[in-house]
Order: sequence, then C-alpha cells, then structure tokens
Amino acid sequence: MEETTRSRRAGRPRLIRSADLLDGLERTTTLDRPIYKISKAICRRLGTGRLRDTLHGVPIGHPLHPAGAMTTFGCWMAAALLDFSRADPRASRMLIATGLGTALPTAAAGLTDWSALHREQQRVGLVHALTNITAAALYTGSLLLRTAGRERAGRVLGYAGLGAASAGGYLGGHLSYRQGAGSNHAQPVSHLMPLGWHDLCTLKDLPNGRPVRRRLGYIDLFVLRLGDGVSVLADDCSHLAGPLHQGHVTPDGGEPCVVCPWHGSVFRISDGSVVHGPATARQPAFKTRLRQGGIVQIRPAE
Ligand code: FES
Repeated sequence: MEETTRSRRAGRPRLIRSADLLDGLERTTTLDRPIYKISKAICRRLGTGRLRDTLHGVPIGHPLHPAGAMTTFGCWMAAALLDFSRADPRASRMLIATGLGTALPTAAAGLTDWSALHREQQRVGLVHALTNITAAALYTGSLLLRTAGRERAGRVLGYAGLGAASAGGYLGGHLSYRQGAGSNHAQPVSHLMPLGWHDLCTLKDLPNGRPVRRRLGYIDLFVLRLGDGVSVLADDCSHLAGPLHQGHVTPDGGEPCVVCPWHGSVFRISDGSVVHGPATARQPAFKTRLRQGGIVQIRPAE
C-alpha cells in the first residue's frame, strides 16, 4: 500500500496486479448473456440424478473436477519436461494423449460445478474454461504433428499448450481459493460451539412442520419441529452458504430432507448427509433432547 502511494506521488503508473485484473473480470457483465444460456442448457441437459451428482463429486465427498484437472495438468507437465530433456518422444506422446483423455471427464465435471455457481464466479469460470479449451486444442495439434513426424513443431505447440493450461490453472486457483467455489461453506461447528448440551429454545416456540432459523452463539441453525421431535442442522448450506431454513422440506428415500433454496442441494435432516448435489460436504448436524419445561437442548453430533 505504502509502495503504491509512493509510486503515485512520484507520478509513476501504478503496478496492475493480476488479482486486480481478476477482480475486474468478476465484475464485468459482458459475458453474462452467454453464461446464462450455457448454464441453463447444462442444467436442462443434466437434470437431477446420479450422473449430475457423480460429476459434482457427491459420492467422494468433495468436487471431482480438481482431481481430474491435476491428472491432466500433471500429464502435460511431465510431457513438457520429457520434451525439454529430449527423452523418448513416444513417452511424451503417450502422456499428451492421456492428458487429452482425462480432459474430457474433467471438463464435464467442471462445467457441472460451474452451472451452479454465483454469477461472479461464473464469469471467472467461463474464462477458465475457454483457456483450458485452448490448451486442449493446442495439445491436440501437438499430438497430430508428432504422429505426422513433425516432432519439433509438435514440441512448440506442446509448450504453448502448457502455457494456456497454466493460465487456466491460475484462474482455477482464483475461483477456488479466492472466490470459494468448491470449498465447504458450512460453519465450522466444532470450533464455534463448546462440547456438551446447550439450551436452544422451548418446543412451543417452534412451528410444527416448518423450518425456522435460530441462533446459538455464533452459529445460525436450521431447526425443524415434527411433532415432539426436533431436528437441527447448521443453517449455512455447505455448497455456497445458502440459508437452509428458507428451503422446503420433502421426503426423499422415505426420510425428510431439506432442499437448499439457492441451487437445490438436498440434505437428509436426520444426519445432514448429502442426498443430491451440487453440495458435496455433509451439513453439520446436532443431537437434540427435550428437558423439563419443554426446553430443547442441542449438541453437535459426533
Ligand atoms: S448454496 Fe448452493 S445448493 Fe445451497
């Protein structure tokens, strides 16, 4: 900051950091129309169900896309190192082909995640996708040149592909670590709530069959009373912190579940497990008990 101020005073142009450029990209509305159309088409085509959940990474408990991206990038990086050391060209070809093979499911998983993001994240995500498509096109050209015997030209296109993939990786890092796409947004209950039972409210304060929000210390809670039973989850959805108490309650697999109002993740109310994505992380759940005078007490479930 001090450096920036001094530069201004000296009349020198301010250094534009890449993070500033990305902040600008988050705010630009130029891409909003195609973003709307593409994400709507993806949602319509995938619908809800096992394929969509698998692409989000629900079965493994975290997004699938980063694992695929690391495999693809790792193959291409290894190919570049082999090219640089003038190793056996067949090894480079095999690595590039493997990277192209893993790029397809990686892109499918990434687009599925992207279709359920906030608009600012989607703006960065679209440029991330275009950069990676450029990388895949360059590597395809590189592989074709190599198989035609033009090793030198193939290596040059390979290096260009690695540059594009690195730019795509940088944008992916911004999306994940700065904009929080793909990370768990549920509150860290175990750090915010001491062990043991805590008084929450009285049973008669809770409407029957309709979720409400209650607050305990620093934590917002989704609270649902069904008759004399009370179920409690952390209120901030693990996907992108949507307010679960504004969602609707629906049976799924014979058990009551809550559907997040923002992107439709479905959580089992009894234990917070993910029934359908885009959320992949379990919603923190609480044990409840009724004490004398109808006091509802809660404590974090193990
Ligand atoms: S915030 Fe996206 S599904 Fe809940």
